[in-house]
Amino acid sequence: MPSNDTNYAYVRGEILPLESASLHISDLSIQRGFGVFDYFKVEANHPLFLNDYLARFRESARLMTMQLPHTDEQLREIIHELITRNNMPLSGMKMILTGGYSENSYDLAEPSLLIMQQPLAMPGPETLGKGIKIITHEYIREIPRAKTINYTMGIRLIGEVKSKAASDVLYHLNGAVSEFPRCNLFVVHQDGTVMTPDSGILLGVTRKNVLALAEKKYPVREGSVTLYDIMQAKEVFLTSTTKRILPIVQVDDTVIGEGVPGPVTQTLLQDLILLEEVDRKLQKQL
Ligand SMILES: Cc1ncc(COP(=O)(O)O)c(C=O)c1O
Repeated sequence: MPSNDTNYAYVRGEILPLESASLHISDLSIQRGFGVFDYFKVEANHPLFLNDYLARFRESARLMTMQLPHTDEQLREIIHELITRNNMPLSGMKMILTGGYSENSYDLAEPSLLIMQQPLAMPGPETLGKGIKIITHEYIREIPRAKTINYTMGIRLIGEVKSKAASDVLYHLNGAVSEFPRCNLFVVHQDGTVMTPDSGILLGVTRKNVLALAEKKYPVREGSVTLYDIMQAKEVFLTSTTKRILPIVQVDDTVIGEGVPGPVTQTLLQDLILLEEVDRKLQKQL
């Protein structure tokens, strides 16, 4: 149980109760939608795979011509302070870096750094047991390697996803698929090769972990994946920090394989859960 009812967040140098954590309206995130973020999971009060998320956060800032004002050590200190104060053993932690309080609502200023912790719900056994349906949409993110705060297309498509009784939407361009608004894609080819796109995507931390696990058991290929590959696939699944691995059993009107989660998907999910445990134990020893 939380030690208190207050959730704390870090905002521009201060740790504050969430209800008083706010930005001025001149911030470039509000004025121009300019900012980057990252998001990692906290399990049993341990931030999982934190080095990878900190490195990606810094890289996203660099790609957007911003510089993170803190060292990794300073970020870790803030993160651990929030974990202690909030006491939310299973949660998500979001770090956001925006363009700052702009004088003229356009030029970059000293960036605003925010860090907040939120409750997290992982997919339940029913979703994992049945798998999900997805739809496809022609689109590619503007700066795919940066985790920007711009989710305009994904949010615009929520209504269409729901109206087609789907759970998510996969982006593609000229026949090549890339990613979901918030997840990466994997395909198990008829010959057993585990494939995942390598361009037009955010380099997901879960994707990296799943690739490393898959390489131990299956042939693996990072490269172009087409809509045709998906429709012909034995198995399809998505990966992300909040979902781990989620089986996909239908893409638009096409049923994938037998229409049920496949063995490679299920094996990799179990391997990923074990890898998270290893990371947690490793951090306990530090
Ligand atoms: C655009 C995009 N692709 C992929 C992912 C999955 O990345 P990760 O596994 O690090 O959560 C995310 C995560 O939010 C994302 O925003």
